[in-house]
Parts: sequence; structure tokens; C-alpha cells
Amino acid sequence: MEIVSTAPEQSFSFGRQLGQLLQEGSVLCIIGDLGAGKTLLVQGIAQGLGLNEEITSPTFTVMNVYEGTIPVYHFDLYRLESPEQLVDIGFDEYTNGGGIAIIEWPDKFPGFMPDSYLRIELIKTGDNDRLIKVSPQGAHHHLLYEELKQACS
Ligand SMILES: Nc1ncnc2c1ncn2[C@@H]1O[C@H](COP(=O)(O)OP(=O)(O)O)[C@@H](O)[C@H]1O
Ligand SMILES: [Mg+2]
Repeated sequence: MEIVSTAPEQSFSFGRQLGQLLQEGSVLCIIGDLGAGKTLLVQGIAQGLGLNEEITSPTFTVMNVYEGTIPVYHFDLYRLESPEQLVDIGFDEYTNGGGIAIIEWPDKFPGFMPDSYLRIELIKTGDNDRLIKVSPQGAHHHLLYEELKQACS
């Protein structure tokens, strides 16, 4: 699925729709350059999940936890230098557990990502224009993908 966003509010509201559909075990990998809108998207997702916290990228802390009805583990792998650090922070437990995992910069360690996730790529095509490409990866995110497609149609 591809969505053309022509304003930040549009990307935010796409995130909100996605957030409303997430369940325990949902994993989102968000790919995009600096300024593409990854954090803005996560802010929309958080609103869709009913979280009231202020959401910023965990660039220096690697992971933020938001305690909602379902715990949300928000990762930013931008500054991680080696995949061993993923083990140190318990990445596998968080991404295969009972929560929701949202991963920014998953492309830094492609071989270390979970088997199944919803892949979201943000491509900057203009100052206020973004192409959002969404696809399910692995066995467990097809239903979420279909629901999202429906919600966005
Ligand atoms: N259509 C759009 N979708 C998302 N962000 C947009 C859009 N148009 C402009 N922007 C701006 O791009 C910036 C994205 O920032 P941010 O979400 O922090 O990016 P990232 O986390 O990918 O580095 C914000 O300042 C936002 O207002
Ligand atoms: Mg960011």
C-alpha cells in the first residue's frame, strides 16, 4: 500500500489510524531519513493508542517505554554501533513479548529484526510531501495490514 501525504497532519492522522489497530505482539519497523517523519508518525500512533505522554525519539536512550493498556516499546537504533548492543538492551524480549514494538532505523541491523513486522517506509518527495509505503513482512502482520488498508480507503 502506498499513501501520498501532503501535510504533517495527514501523516499524523495516518499514524493515529494505525495506532487504533495495534495489538499485543504488533511490531512496526519505520524506515526513513532524518526529517522524513518517523517521530511524527509515532506521535500519531501514540494518540491512536490513547497514550497521553509526550513522544520524542529515544535517540540517546535507545528505547522509551510508554505504559498504556498495552506497553509500548519505542526504539531508535540510529546511534547503536553494533548488533551486540541489541542483545544487551533485551531487544528480542521486547520485540517478541506481550507489548507493541515500534522501531526507528531498523535498516541499521536488518539481519537482527523480528521475523514478522509491518514495514513502513517514509520517503521525502518535497518540503511537505511524503510517500508512505506499507507492507507486511513475515507471517503475523497480514491482518493488521488488511485492516489498515480498509481504514485508509
Ligand atoms: N507530509 C508530511 N509528513 C510528515 N512530516 C512532514 C510532512 N511535511 C512536513 N513534515 C515535517 O517533517 C518533519 C519530520 O520530523 P520528524 O518526525 O522528527 O522526522 P524523523 O523522526 O524521521 O527524523 C516535521 O517537522 C514535520 O512537520
Ligand atoms: Mg525521529
